[in-house]
Amino acid sequence: MAVHGHYKVTVVGAGFVGSTSAQRLVEKNIADVALVDIVPEVAKGKALDMMQSAPVLGFDAKIEGGTGYDHTKDSDVVLITAGIPRKPGMSRSDLLKTNADIVGGVVRQCMEKSPNAVIVVVSNPLDVMTYLAHKVSGLPDNKVMGMAGVLDAARFRTFIAMELGCSIQDVEALLLGGHGDTMVPLPRFSTVSGIPLSDLLPKEKIDALVDRARNGGAEIVGLLKTGSAYYAPSASSVAMIQSILWNERRILPSCAHVKGMYGMADAWVGVPCTLGRNGIEQIHELKLDAGELAALHKSADAVKADIALIG
Ligand code: NAI
Ligand code: 2OP
Repeated sequence: MAVHGHYKVTVVGAGFVGSTSAQRLVEKNIADVALVDIVPEVAKGKALDMMQSAPVLGFDAKIEGGTGYDHTKDSDVVLITAGIPRKPGMSRSDLLKTNADIVGGVVRQCMEKSPNAVIVVVSNPLDVMTYLAHKVSGLPDNKVMGMAGVLDAARFRTFIAMELGCSIQDVEALLLGGHGDTMVPLPRFSTVSGIPLSDLLPKEKIDALVDRARNGGAEIVGLLKTGSAYYAPSASSVAMIQSILWNERRILPSCAHVKGMYGMADAWVGVPCTLGRNGIEQIHELKLDAGELAALHKSADAVKADIALIG
């Protein structure tokens, strides 16, 4: 069972993704949680509500909320979900700049209280915000990563299982690149109980599933009308945090600083990473074919262009 109480996670942003992640962290006894939101009393209220579920559910992890950062002191991991969604009349670059201000400020304050924490970024645009968190925190590369690949791969895995009518537990899928239109699902590295996906489905079907995975976030937004996905995003964030805190050393696609691998000198994109107590323990370099590599480079260039927008 969990090693509850030994670890502490700061979750910044008590919105949909932040509060659901906090809930999963305490309910699974993964860590104590310090929840933060800029809106007065919201984080405090949600934390108290979750604490009151402990006697019913039987977990011992503690959660405390606040608008300041004192209660976040000495966290092992910081999960950043703060930000605003794009509003009518707001350009992409306006959103980038607004969220960059928010994420930059949040990272600074978290680092004052927990200078040795590992940072996991969720706020969008994901790859740019992960780059920014790295820059502002001054942490080494292994301690800053972004969550997107676990979610995007989970979407791809779900659609494969739905199409085949098989157990979702047997479906493995891999995906590289940035979190956006240019993400690179890799059917060649996707299997069902070790059987290559290409042996189970025709190319047109696989292409359609790849497309649906690529638009997985937008599909949920279209259905929810206000707001975006949070159940699968929080599950994905918590899987990464668990692998880090419990030193599980799972290989999970994560946004990382790639320097020299995949023919890229300096990029922030999703790549398969071993996640353990030091954060990113290792980045794995796959043997991609020319088309896959070109798609990855295109995705990295799109992230670079966005990074240039925030200066
Ligand atoms: P939300 O709007 O429900 O929550 C965001 C929270 O951040 C709000 O409660 C807001 O008050 C808070 N906040 C804003 N500025 C703050 C500051 N300076 N300090 C502390 N808190 C602050 O949004 P939701 O659905 O929770 O999404 C959060 C972020 O995660 C968004 O940027 C979203 O696009 C992104 N996201 C990324 C995913 C990924 O795969 N990387 C998946 C799902 C969401
Ligand atoms: C998602 O993929 C909005 O990035 C978010 O659901």
